[in-house]
Amino acid sequence: MTAQIIDGKAFAATVREKVAGHVARLKEENGITPGLAVVLVGEDPASQVYVRSKGKQTVEVGMNSYEHKLDVETSEADLLALIDQLNNDPQVHGILVQLPLPSHLNEDLVINSIDPAKDVDGFHISNVGLLGTGQKSMVPCTPLGCLMMLRDHHGSLSGMDAVVIGRSNIVGKPMAQLLLGDSCTVTIAHSRTKDLPDVVRRADIVVAAVGRPEMVPGDWIKEGATVIDVGINRIDAPEKGEGKTRLVGDVHFESAAARAGAITPVPGGVGPMTIACLLANTVTACCRANGLAEPDGLTA
Ligand code: GUN
Repeated sequence: MTAQIIDGKAFAATVREKVAGHVARLKEENGITPGLAVVLVGEDPASQVYVRSKGKQTVEVGMNSYEHKLDVETSEADLLALIDQLNNDPQVHGILVQLPLPSHLNEDLVINSIDPAKDVDGFHISNVGLLGTGQKSMVPCTPLGCLMMLRDHHGSLSGMDAVVIGRSNIVGKPMAQLLLGDSCTVTIAHSRTKDLPDVVRRADIVVAAVGRPEMVPGDWIKEGATVIDVGINRIDAPEKGEGKTRLVGDVHFESAAARAGAITPVPGGVGPMTIACLLANTVTACCRANGLAEPDGLTA
């Protein structure tokens, strides 16, 4: 079998179009412009790239973007004061604090100081609990994007065997909750899992989110399985010339594509969906804040 390639870039564009449509309606019919505040502390180069991209796409779908760039030495009290101000600002419907934070700042404390209704990352302990108990919550963007692609490909996921490799709070755990919510039989595998190849070989759905380049070889993939590769790893690519690099996922793409029914590429798979879902979450938060019907197809 040669896998169908799930085009995350194209899918993300359709999500952004839907978001833009909702934003236009909110403006026209309700006089409301959704607003997203992004807070970046320090100058981590990868974070700077993400934050720039988030701001650009926020404006492109017609929303207001509020960027707060703080010095790397910003105190916890000052950061908490900014979050308090954003929590109380009616123009701000979504708040995202870019992670990782500098080591002198307590990430859990900072995240849990965000108003859960504005927590478009879905990292606040209240949202984690709401998701875990199947209640309406804000859902982390990357897992939400993966779920949208899986639903789009399969329709119903009910009864499927799903393996999530990786147990992070940002991807693995919420992904497992979402799959469970869609009635999959879910296994969360991790670095201590016994006989990982065997566990993966049973799966109809494999979500790889560990951050280790090409750690899942094709011969672990069941024939016809759907493979969602969350990993974005930069590796040396001497074949492209001295000092050159390339991006690869957590799955060995060529060998996995030879067995899978469908697979997301890296780049161009899950990556573009994450920011699209952040925009979707911001519209959802804005609708909830204003007692309006939530956008169809943009929530879990
Ligand atoms: N850093 C890496 N991924 C994320 C994310 O999804 N949200 C935030 N806030 N920071 C990140």
